[in-house]
Amino acid sequence: MTRQPTPEDKFSFGLWTVGWPGGDPFGSATRPVLDPWEYAGRLAELGAWGITFHDNDVFPFDADAATRTDRVTRLRDACDAAGLVIEMVTTNTFTHPVFKDGGLTSNDRGVRRFGLRKILEAVDLAAEVGATTFVMWGGREGSEYDASKDVHAAHERYKEGLDTIAGYIKSQDYDLRIGLEPKPNEPRGDIFLPTVGHALALIAELEHGDIVGLNPEVGHEQMANLNYTHALGQALWCGKLFHIDLNGQRGLKYDQDLAFGHGDLMSAFFTVDLLENGFPSGGPTYTGPRHFDYKPSRTEHLEGVWESAKANIATYLMLKEKALAFRADPRVTEAMRYAGVFDLAEPTVAEGESLEAFRATDDGFDPEKASERDFGFVRLQQLAVEHLIG
Ligand code: GCO
Ligand code: MN
Ligand code: MN
Repeated sequence: MTRQPTPEDKFSFGLWTVGWPGGDPFGSATRPVLDPWEYAGRLAELGAWGITFHDNDVFPFDADAATRTDRVTRLRDACDAAGLVIEMVTTNTFTHPVFKDGGLTSNDRGVRRFGLRKILEAVDLAAEVGATTFVMWGGREGSEYDASKDVHAAHERYKEGLDTIAGYIKSQDYDLRIGLEPKPNEPRGDIFLPTVGHALALIAELEHGDIVGLNPEVGHEQMANLNYTHALGQALWCGKLFHIDLNGQRGLKYDQDLAFGHGDLMSAFFTVDLLENGFPSGGPTYTGPRHFDYKPSRTEHLEGVWESAKANIATYLMLKEKALAFRADPRVTEAMRYAGVFDLAEPTVAEGESLEAFRATDDGFDPEKASERDFGFVRLQQLAVEHLIG
């Protein structure tokens, strides 16, 4: 590892990541499960600054109040002892069979009322443990069959649910913001809010959309063959990048949840470049947690769990060093200038220039001559490759 992680790096892990025992639809678990509080010490040693969890990562679905309090207290004490922040909390509305048709958008109203209460309880829990982000991944909000779902009504119910939750957060004065996590499919055949763009469009329709933003995941955008860095870029542009889920994915497959950088490495490089260096001509930056949502492969035993957790951090730090060097390289600055990267920040119509004047002005522009321009994008990309593997 080039550099040791520090709390300023804000690395964090979901308890369900290192806590995944390796079971999949084809085979049973390959590792023992520890109690939630047993992960805190090791994660802190590896350089984590924070952890995150679902309500039911800590206490069972049917836990009574005493069990719940006891288990949350033990986890909090372990985090305090290890110096870990609980930065995000989320709700499990996908494991229990009651949620087989979703939580907020189930066709069964009784399920929706139950699901909404469960989420509101998790909001209280998030505030109680000091989390500042409340992620909502609607894994089972969706369908397999088009005739089975009124998509108009489903979005009405999604909006109703989100506004109820966001309104409640405001009414309680909780220091919490909601991060929607898009995913195109798995476990549903088609999940509602399949991409960052879909989620942004829904947020724009909300009454309390000001505290609702995004938690984009690398693999989820790449499962739809989309550009994760562009997704982050647009969310940032909208002021909606509240949280991130970093992992690795290789192409259009099931959600692989590889360690960060173990999928599309070039894309991971540019993701880190955006997160650490920001946009080339300035603009909003991301200062939140570098949160990993990966799964230690089921081939690994407990030592491998810690090794794989470390791999996420190490790769991020190596890519950060490369991305900083890339932007500091005068050849890169020159290539970006040659490519016109900085020119894109200049408004097309000048400030104060009337549309009438704009249309009447002869810029002396020659389309034939402009067509001859060389942008040098490939040279710029090759410089990135050089920094990445050179
Ligand atoms: C997945 C998701 C989840 C969510 C988690 C927090 O594909 O299973 O990425 O891991 O991130 O439920 O909301
Ligand atoms: Mn995922
Ligand atoms: Mn995720």
